[in-house]
Amino acid sequence: MARFSTYETLKKHLSNPDGSLPFYRMAFAGVIAGAVGGVAGTPADIVLVRLQNDGSLPVEQRRNYKNAFDGVFRIAREDGVQGLFKGAVPNVSRAMLMTAAQLCSYDAFKDLLLGSGYFKEGLPLHFSASFLAGFVATTITSPFDVVKTRIMNAGPGSPYKNLLQALVLIAKEEGPLALYKGWTPSFVRMAPQTILTFIFLEQFRNIYWDRTAKANKVRYE
Ligand SMILES: *[C@@H]1O[C@H](CO)[C@@H](O)[C@H](O)[C@H]1NC(C)=O
Repeated sequence: MARFSTYETLKKHLSNPDGSLPFYRMAFAGVIAGAVGGVAGTPADIVLVRLQNDGSLPVEQRRNYKNAFDGVFRIAREDGVQGLFKGAVPNVSRAMLMTAAQLCSYDAFKDLLLGSGYFKEGLPLHFSASFLAGFVATTITSPFDVVKTRIMNAGPGSPYKNLLQALVLIAKEEGPLALYKGWTPSFVRMAPQTILTFIFLEQFRNIYWDRTAKANKVRYE
């Protein structure tokens, strides 16, 4: 909800009076939408990990959250609201990258496929555009995931100083393909998520947004 409402609202505000939207502004809308979505999802992510971990802790260290909501309220009470966003930076960065790749490439592919003349508005179009968007999003997030895992697993004396330096170092020493290790399992996870998200979004758009969507018809360029 956070991602899509931010994205659609920003696109509306950033488009030219004639309804066209340059790609860099669309990408900006996607990056901001990813940041908003990432921040919104972080408290739930933290509670999820703690709930899953609880069983493996010694009894006196268990947090015993009753449920997800109890977890969120107790973290806010016990650690302060900032406790709900601890360690959010890497994940929010990833969400920015993934969301921009997913949403912008979906819009772009949809426009392209519609323009080809082989597609009209409907399920085959939404499926094809979202499948391709899942492909692009996997390809763009894969190097980030590889680098993040390497940095997290590197012990003392790590050769990695920061994200960018690690990215360049891995590409140089092991070849650029090393940055795409694990691409297939990521795609197997990302593709269904992307496809279902967009297919449902398009259905909701038909039901609720039809009039406004038509009034705000955006032309991508
Ligand atoms: C960040 O993402 C990882 C992997 O998906 C997850 O295990 C971790 O709990 C997340 N951290 C936060 C603070 O959301």
